[in-house]
Amino acid sequence: MKTIKTLLVAASIGIATFGTASSVYAAGGPSDMPEGAMKHEKWSFNGPFGKYDRAAAQRGYQIYKEVCSSCHALDQLAFRHLGEKGAPFYSEDFPNPNDNPLIKGFAAEWEIADIDGDDGSAITRPGIPADKFPPIYANDIEAASVNGKPPPDLSVIVKARGGGADYLYSLLLAYDYEMPDSMDGKIGAGSYYNPVMEGAVIAMPPQLVEGAIEYEDGTEATKQQMAYDVTQFLAWSADPKLEQRKRVGFGTMIYLGILTILLYLSYRQVWKDVEH
Ligand code: HEC
Repeated sequence: MKTIKTLLVAASIGIATFGTASSVYAAGGPSDMPEGAMKHEKWSFNGPFGKYDRAAAQRGYQIYKEVCSSCHALDQLAFRHLGEKGAPFYSEDFPNPNDNPLIKGFAAEWEIADIDGDDGSAITRPGIPADKFPPIYANDIEAASVNGKPPPDLSVIVKARGGGADYLYSLLLAYDYEMPDSMDGKIGAGSYYNPVMEGAVIAMPPQLVEGAIEYEDGTEATKQQMAYDVTQFLAWSADPKLEQRKRVGFGTMIYLGILTILLYLSYRQVWKDVEH
């Protein structure tokens, strides 16, 4: 009994330490960050039953397409991924996203580099669901010469930065804070003050302008709404199997629970006539 207690105490100390360490890590950013710049949202996809907010992720794709995609690529994604199970545009009528007219339509809006089947010359053609999202720049040097710094690929950016979804959401909304005097002279041409960015200087101009987007579903395009929506979309692209994984995880917990009860009952049965 004593050993079990010791083990339990050790485990809870471990969990508590890990929890504190990871939340400190998640807070990130410079220590003089203005209060409230790093936001802590209750994301629908966190927690054991987490799910993406489908409508928001769909609007988020519209933001990616109309705003972010002029600079940022999504090189881990193919168009068909948008229509797979658990994805923003999944439809039960089209379990195979290659047949989904919506996905075909999205793909066809992009120009894909290819070669001519007859003479091998370079051509471009409209995308098909099996194509990957195309690169925006030929290479990082070109991307940097246009933008000051190369805009990183956004496919897994939500996983790639400490703070995850909160970080992306906060970064997009942090351009309006007043710059402290200590930053005077530190922001060169083509750079912007953004307290959530490491070092508080970023080469990305502010992206979300009130009303810049007209949402297809009629939602009002406030800055917060757009930041929320694109975060849902990019959280999905960084972890497209989250919903399936959580479902399996929950099933496994129930299975283990039942197994524990059965084992306990059989233990009682086996030992019932033995004095101890
Ligand atoms: C005009 C080009 C441009 C557009 C449009 C643009 N970005 Fe960026 N973005 C950049 C550049 C350049 C960087 C690199 C900044 C740096 O390293 O200082 C960047 C960096 C980022 C980063 C990484 C920040 C970090 O922690 O390193 C994220 C996240 C990001 N952008 C998200 C977005 C989202 C979401 C959109 C659409 C709403 C968007 N960007 C639209 C140019 C752009």
